[in-house]
Amino acid sequence: MTVETIIETRVRGLTFDSVTAGEGLKNALEMSRGAIIDLVRDSRLKGRGGAGFPTGMKWDFAAAEKREPKYLICNADEGEPGTYKDRVILTDYPELVIEGMTIGARAIGASLGLIYLRAEYAYLKHHLEEVVEARRKAGLLGKGIAGIDGFDFDIVVGLGAGAYVCGEETALIESLEGFRGEPRNRPPFPVVSGFLHRPSVVNNVETLAWVACIFAKGVDWFKSSGTATSTGRKLFSVSGDCARPGVYEFPFGITVAELLEEVGGEDAKAVQVGGASGRCVPRSAFSRRIAFEDVPTGGSIIVIGPGRDMLEVAHNLLEFFVDESCGQCTPCRLGNGKLLEGVDMLMEGTCTTDYLHDLRALCNTMQVASKCGLGQTSSVAFTSIIESFGDEIMGHAKRSR
Ligand SMILES: Cc1cc2nc3c(=O)[nH]c(=O)nc-3n(C[C@H](O)[C@H](O)[C@H](O)COP(=O)(O)O)c2cc1C
Ligand code: SF4
Repeated sequence: MTVETIIETRVRGLTFDSVTAGEGLKNALEMSRGAIIDLVRDSRLKGRGGAGFPTGMKWDFAAAEKREPKYLICNADEGEPGTYKDRVILTDYPELVIEGMTIGARAIGASLGLIYLRAEYAYLKHHLEEVVEARRKAGLLGKGIAGIDGFDFDIVVGLGAGAYVCGEETALIESLEGFRGEPRNRPPFPVVSGFLHRPSVVNNVETLAWVACIFAKGVDWFKSSGTATSTGRKLFSVSGDCARPGVYEFPFGITVAELLEEVGGEDAKAVQVGGASGRCVPRSAFSRRIAFEDVPTGGSIIVIGPGRDMLEVAHNLLEFFVDESCGQCTPCRLGNGKLLEGVDMLMEGTCTTDYLHDLRALCNTMQVASKCGLGQTSSVAFTSIIESFGDEIMGHAKRSR
């Protein structure tokens, strides 16, 4: 599918359209650094990159660090299969993202911001650099931002090299430093020791854009939608077997069924919520809510139509992880391959029920023993497919004696 085709499918009318660029930053710069962090904490904004870590808390940790310089990194790697909402934000609302970065920099005391752009988005680099340059000329980046003595912050745009694991924040930092993109051990977390081993905040593109909206429209406006634990609204990239794929904005707490109705996917057999590393939600659970406390997601929604073979779905997702595992740790490097081999055996009718049981135990091992989020989540889709489509899958498995 070409970029133009994807853009054509996009649904307009996002909240971002109603925000006047500059308003959020202006309001934030009238506040003290501590008050900025308090307001973000009060909004209960959770990171839109997938893990849902509270943004105010992350900024607070970084602000408390004494070592300098500090860095604010915008994670624009967007490598999760089925996700393309950050690309829309970077294309149409880059001002909001950069405003969010500037507010974050003010709050934590960062002097440099880095946008880590996935290799496939290289065509956006020039566009972003033009926006950055225009803001420098307007005195909104560089030395003494908005006339505030000592508030010096600039932004550079870096490019990834095409690895999904580089979306993981510590692999991203390694890659930004010019090394092979492999996750680091945590702790220490990036807020303590990140880019060049200095305190660094890594935030998703969408998180930063919402920060600008919160300061423009107010914290009560933000909290008036969503659920008590997952406040606000969320962008979703919808793809797969539905009539109207595209980028949508819904409040957190929307049920899977309601979302499917909006996108024309009512007859779905299942929905892969959260991309390849997310959960496969079967039809019987379509009343579940999309929110961090129920079914979490970084924004990828892949609709699986009634005619799909769930083993083929599992095969497709596991092939991705076999390709993308960085190979540093054994549970992930070998585990994904073993799961894929198991799906092949199921397809051929040579997998016994005992072996399937062993594979499920392997999933547990991968979830607890892998070094980073890739290996910790790569088996989630497999286990949820086995759990929810037991009848369909067991029809393929040989009974053990
Ligand atoms: C394998 C892997 C890939 C990831 N890819 C992305 C990504 O493309 N974009 C993103 O924002 N976060 C991604 N994350 C999550 C980041 O590590 C990090 O939690 C996030 O950027 C923090 O931003 P937030 O708090 O604003 O969500 C990924 C995590 C893992 C384990
Ligand atoms: S879990 Fe996978 S991707 Fe993460 S460090 Fe281990 S091998 Fe690499």
